[in-house]
Amino acid sequence: MRRKFYGLLEGKKGVIFGPLDEHSIAWHIALAVYAEGGRFVISNAPVTQRFGKVEELARLCGDAPVVYADATSDEDVKRVFEVAREHFGGVDFIVHSIGMSLNIRKGRPYEALNYDWYVKTLDISAISLHRIIHHALPVLNDGASIVALTYIGAQRIFSRYSDMCDAKALLESIARNFGARLGKRGIRVNTVSQSPTRTTAGSGIEGFDAMFEFAHRLAPLGNATAEDCADYVVTLLSDLTRKVTMQNLYHDGGFSTMGMSEELMALFERALQAEAAEKAEKAG
Ligand SMILES: NC(=O)c1ccc[n+]([C@@H]2O[C@H](COP(=O)([O-])OP(=O)(O)OC[C@H]3O[C@@H](n4cnc5c(N)ncnc54)[C@H](O)[C@@H]3O)[C@@H](O)[C@H]2O)c1
Repeated sequence: MRRKFYGLLEGKKGVIFGPLDEHSIAWHIALAVYAEGGRFVISNAPVTQRFGKVEELARLCGDAPVVYADATSDEDVKRVFEVAREHFGGVDFIVHSIGMSLNIRKGRPYEALNYDWYVKTLDISAISLHRIIHHALPVLNDGASIVALTYIGAQRIFSRYSDMCDAKALLESIARNFGARLGKRGIRVNTVSQSPTRTTAGSGIEGFDAMFEFAHRLAPLGNATAEDCADYVVTLLSDLTRKVTMQNLYHDGGFSTMGMSEELMALFERALQAEAAEKAEKAG
């Protein structure tokens, strides 16, 4: 069921980085922002021209301009904001929804990371936020809002999230640092810490289904979907949250504040009983 729209982003112009296909969190953010009246440039890595659905999304968003850009390239990112300036004059919002780890993709454990890939993880998933804000500065309007997607792996260890835990910690730090420096212009920088979500990046993590289910069963409200996330991000891009900055905002159905739930306790007790029964059987 589509929610009602309120024109919260009427007149706002921006850039959305990272929608790949209809599963992507940024895909849903783009649709929600468009429905709320926002207009934007869409950007993704050049390789996504071959297998992504970026052009389809652009059509759904009123023929939004598309700029293919590698988030690790200064030249590419600079070009994104030149195009934004040509179309809109200035930028009122930026969404950073970019993440990738070759170490995770190729199954390297944290204790044996490939360091070239590790540097790439940090560059793509975290330093890109710095690069994007840096190149946006000449076109960023006062009162703009910048949001980057993150995960609780920045604060707590989720073993399979490996070097992405480090990348998200760096990403959140970059958001705070820019938030502190841009506040005098009324510019806000926040990160949204989203529930596990079934996307290309999410599903690439070994054991993702177990992480997804664990979070869903622990969170009192259950996992937040990409559509839920999009609605939350809309509020952060709107003037309604003009005094919120330098925050890591959990959007996870309450997961981050939970320790244990009745449902998981019951499951764990059953698993312990089964383990004890198996041991007893083996012992004869
Ligand atoms: N899926 C989850 O469970 C989950 C949970 C919390 C946070 N997040 C974060 O949400 C964001 C979006 O991920 P998603 O889950 O929607 O997956 P996704 O795969 O749809 O999006 C990730 C995007 O990053 C882009 N990207 C990768 N390398 C790039 C590069 N060099 N230059 C430019 N773009 C590049 C990809 O093309 C892709 O569009 C990421 O920051 C991710 O870490 C995801």
